[in-house]
Amino acid sequence: MCLFYLILVVLIVSFLIWYKFNYYWYKSCLKNFKEIKYFPTNTTDFYNYLTTQSINDKMTKNCYKMFGPFPLFITTDEKLFSIILGSSKHINKPSQLSLFGKAISQALFFAKNDLWRHRRRLFNSFFDYGSILNQFEINNERTNEFIDNFKSKLSNDKELIDLNLIINEFILGQVSINVMGENLLKINPEVLDILGFLNQQTVRKALVCTDLFKVWEIFKDLWLERKKITVLKNCIKKFLQKRINEKRNFTHEKRMIFVDFLIKEMNENNVSEEYVIQELLLFLFAGYETTAHSISFALYLLSKHPEIQENVIKEIKAITSNDITHQHLQKMDYLDLVIKESLRMYTTATFFFRILEENVEFEGTTLPKGLIVLFNNTGIHKDPTLYLEPEKFKPERFLSNEFKSKRFIYSPFCLGIRQCIGKRFAENTLKLTLAKFVLNYKLFDANHNLNLAIGIGLTSLNGIKVFIEKRR
Ligand code: HEM
Repeated sequence: MCLFYLILVVLIVSFLIWYKFNYYWYKSCLKNFKEIKYFPTNTTDFYNYLTTQSINDKMTKNCYKMFGPFPLFITTDEKLFSIILGSSKHINKPSQLSLFGKAISQALFFAKNDLWRHRRRLFNSFFDYGSILNQFEINNERTNEFIDNFKSKLSNDKELIDLNLIINEFILGQVSINVMGENLLKINPEVLDILGFLNQQTVRKALVCTDLFKVWEIFKDLWLERKKITVLKNCIKKFLQKRINEKRNFTHEKRMIFVDFLIKEMNENNVSEEYVIQELLLFLFAGYETTAHSISFALYLLSKHPEIQENVIKEIKAITSNDITHQHLQKMDYLDLVIKESLRMYTTATFFFRILEENVEFEGTTLPKGLIVLFNNTGIHKDPTLYLEPEKFKPERFLSNEFKSKRFIYSPFCLGIRQCIGKRFAENTLKLTLAKFVLNYKLFDANHNLNLAIGIGLTSLNGIKVFIEKRR
């Protein structure tokens, strides 16, 4: 008994020494930076915190918050973005990030070191120009169908619509067809709600953890999360098995889509079915909400700026009077600026993390190896010292030479070797959907104030509402 108490005391004392040592050591490393005491505990406050980080107080451009014995370093500093994201060393993300337990922990997003390098090289070879063209053909046809269907549901008068309701469903279909060759909603219509719930759950869960008094809330939704993930995984599993069976006698398709590329990996390199399911799930999580909400926010901004909406129409009409081709899209420079500015104002991938793989010299201090850095790209996009009148929608600002010379102040898709792999897919989807939408519908301001919060991507809790009318 005595021995038991002795061991217990030794363990507790060792833990306290370890805890205090780390706590004070990290604090001494970061003594030149401001420590923040407050950290938001809900997704709306978190968004407000991110948007104002670089506005409120210059000192907080680089700051940190202690979580137990470890700090989280938060930056909106372009210099640090450039040092860390511009390096090929700091590619890993903290393991605490693994969303939904082990549900997608094997997928690319969470892979580390050489495993990530190997997989990323492999995947990059798939997401080449050929697959972009293939994607364009699929998307063009589906976007035309979507526009026609939607038109048939609208009256001839102005109507108030929530863009989220129509764009989310369309883009979930689009992304799942691009990635898996089939619309998941046709396999299981519940998928839209499940993804909506899970997207909200990720950040909410992490923030609640930071408030000890609310920890019980995590458990409340945990069983629901598990249940929903199982439904989603089963749905993808069923689809995958069907695809594998079809593929046995399938040689005639023009190009592989992503799922076929993964099936080939299964056959040739013995990767497991569980891994393939996780990778498909990741691409849905990473690609669906970010793309859908980016489109809705851009349309929302166009509804508030009729003159910019007209400029977009003029540009498209000057390029083509027929259906839009991939070549036409490449010529729509003004639409590019509109999308860029919209992603700056409503940065849908609101932040990202890296873990330092070695010490980093910065502003006369050494940021220690192992430090977790949160890159607040939402905050950097709203920094008035980098963007004049950041609250104003001014697509032309991206034409200035000053902007062109500062690459690291703009990162909606992240930057460096671990930036978004779906960037070109997403940009093309955004461009095509926006071009066809504004050609067919006129958008009007509905004086709707967004209630912004952070899920996997930026979201508006009260929808994204505009008035729309068919163009004649
Ligand atoms: C507007 C739409 C999109 C935005 C704003 C966006 C943004 C981002 C950002 C900021 C990252 C870096 C995250 C990090 O380092 O933690 C990322 C990574 C990723 N994105 Fe996207 N994304 C979009 C669309 C897509 C699409 C359409 C796909 C797939 C079809 C996709 C697949 C991925 C994947 C797999 C990663 C992880 C890459 C890796 O770790 O190597 N994204 N995205």
